[in-house]
Amino acid sequence: MVNQDELKKMAATEALKYIKSGMSVGLGTGSTVKFFLEGLSLLVKDGMKITGVPTSVETARIARTLGITVNDEFTGKIDIDVDGADEIDPSGNLIKGGGGALLREKIVASNSSMVIIIADEMKLKEEFIGAFKVPVEVFPFLHRNTIARIEELGGKCHLRNNGNFVTDNGNLVADCDFGMIKDPARLESMIKLIPGVAEVGIFTSLCDMIILGTPGGHRTIKIKKV
Ligand code: A5P
Repeated sequence: MVNQDELKKMAATEALKYIKSGMSVGLGTGSTVKFFLEGLSLLVKDGMKITGVPTSVETARIARTLGITVNDEFTGKIDIDVDGADEIDPSGNLIKGGGGALLREKIVASNSSMVIIIADEMKLKEEFIGAFKVPVEVFPFLHRNTIARIEELGGKCHLRNNGNFVTDNGNLVADCDFGMIKDPARLESMIKLIPGVAEVGIFTSLCDMIILGTPGGHRTIKIKKV
């Protein structure tokens, strides 16, 4: 029996093969990325030169502890971004933000030439995403009104940790249940248009490659972006 951590590590280890010396590397957030950071630190110790662009305060802290150079103020295109996800569909649409880092994760992904998502195979859904509630980062100012407008789109939202969860950007997170999401790109843009929404944890047209850890070995899915 292979446990979930071994599957996460398998995906993370495979993603390391895409990292070359001299690259800028988006560093995602979460338990799967932690395995990637540990592997990356070994490459750095062996002389690889990379600049990490962290997607959270926690990732920056872990990376620094492991001896990986990080730059929060990176300018220009990031060569490659490696991040986890909470749910993935076969077209590469994602739900992210289980760890609350969705805003910086989306900024880093959208500024990267290549985005690789690493996960254990349980994260890949056969058809639609939506079993995992969609995290939405909202500004504290008039946040109840913002959440009411998100709910007008058909979702049922709960403030994470009763409003006591605060993101790296000083915002709140509402976890919103929309059921199965048939048109993720449309829902993403509808939510994003609501004033007061900082970011929505639906990621469409950003992922280039999914690497899954499976009991039979890693599985790589290349995504053709629309
Ligand atoms: C962080 O906000 C999330 O988007 C993570 O990338 C996601 O929750 C995956 O985390 P795990 O690798 O811990 O499952």
